[in-house]
Amino acid sequence: MFNRRDFLNKTILASLAAGVGISSCESKPKQDAAKNNAATTNQSSGEKPEATVIATWKHPDATQKALEVIQNQGRALDGIEAGVRMVEADPLDQSVGYGGLPDRDGIVTLDACVMDEKGNAGCVTFLQHIMHPVSVARKVMEDTPHVMLSGEGALQFALSKGFEKENLLTQAAEERWKEWLKEGTYKPVGGHEQHDTIGMLAIDGNGNLSGACSTSGMAFKMHGRVGDSPIIGAGLYVDNEVGAATATGLGEFVMKTLGAFLIVELMRQGKSPEAACREAALRIAEKYGKANEDMQVGYIALNKKGEYGTYSLHPGFNYSISRKASHEVLDSPYLSASAG
Ligand code: GLY
Repeated sequence: MFNRRDFLNKTILASLAAGVGISSCESKPKQDAAKNNAATTNQSSGEKPEATVIATWKHPDATQKALEVIQNQGRALDGIEAGVRMVEADPLDQSVGYGGLPDRDGIVTLDACVMDEKGNAGCVTFLQHIMHPVSVARKVMEDTPHVMLSGEGALQFALSKGFEKENLLTQAAEERWKEWLKEGTYKPVGGHEQHDTIGMLAIDGNGNLSGACSTSGMAFKMHGRVGDSPIIGAGLYVDNEVGAATATGLGEFVMKTLGAFLIVELMRQGKSPEAACREAALRIAEKYGKANEDMQVGYIALNKKGEYGTYSLHPGFNYSISRKASHEVLDSPYLSASAG
């Protein structure tokens, strides 16, 4: 298993031996470098970047839908909302929206946020009974003077906007909760391949960036727990002058390092999206060491040129990318040597 001491030792030894930087101990799918290069646009010609949508995990139908909306309607935010709604409505996805796994009391609570090209933001946290928190977050952004609504207040706001109250706990999710109850111990569900959270970023034909993030959060969490996904700067950040980033995985790590904001600021300083995501992942590994052994965090980022990059703590994180007529799911590069 991977711990901080091993990680640092391997890093130092590998760096000394090879005379190169920390990346020598990392495992990285070869295809990513090519894909990132392929995403590069011809900035010297002053051309606008190709409309591009990237999302955490295997959601090529959602990125395709988002891209189609952007190509038809023009605005990145509209595409993103349409794409994320697909995942929220999917009962088979047990970490987002309808069908999401409940907290330890058997209650499904949802978090989401959106951020647009003007720097506007909207969030909902601890929202119950509403299938599309991403759309409620957008309403908070567009129809209120606030950024975040929570719990009962967010529900009342959603109902006032015409959203319907629904039971979000599917039979399959309830069965998994009841199975978990048999153990009776409170322990967050981790694992390198844990799927949680749809984070989606897009750039449209006008070169404008937007993003959204939506989740049912950590499975069997404490009632009232809110993760990184609805927190601007943690689970999502967009700066239309620079780029956008979003996160998936154990939100506590992402919140404590303000991952998405960090990535955008690193891109502002000149790092590529992949290098910025890698540094944010490394920040978690360095600060929290052994604790990240069983807990995954994955980052995706898209810059103003339409270049994208990703990085995760461990293997198992993948992402979906839609551009032109291409809709792919690719493995992310990752930090840890243990599983490489
Ligand atoms: N990243 C989702 C959560 O921790 O709630």
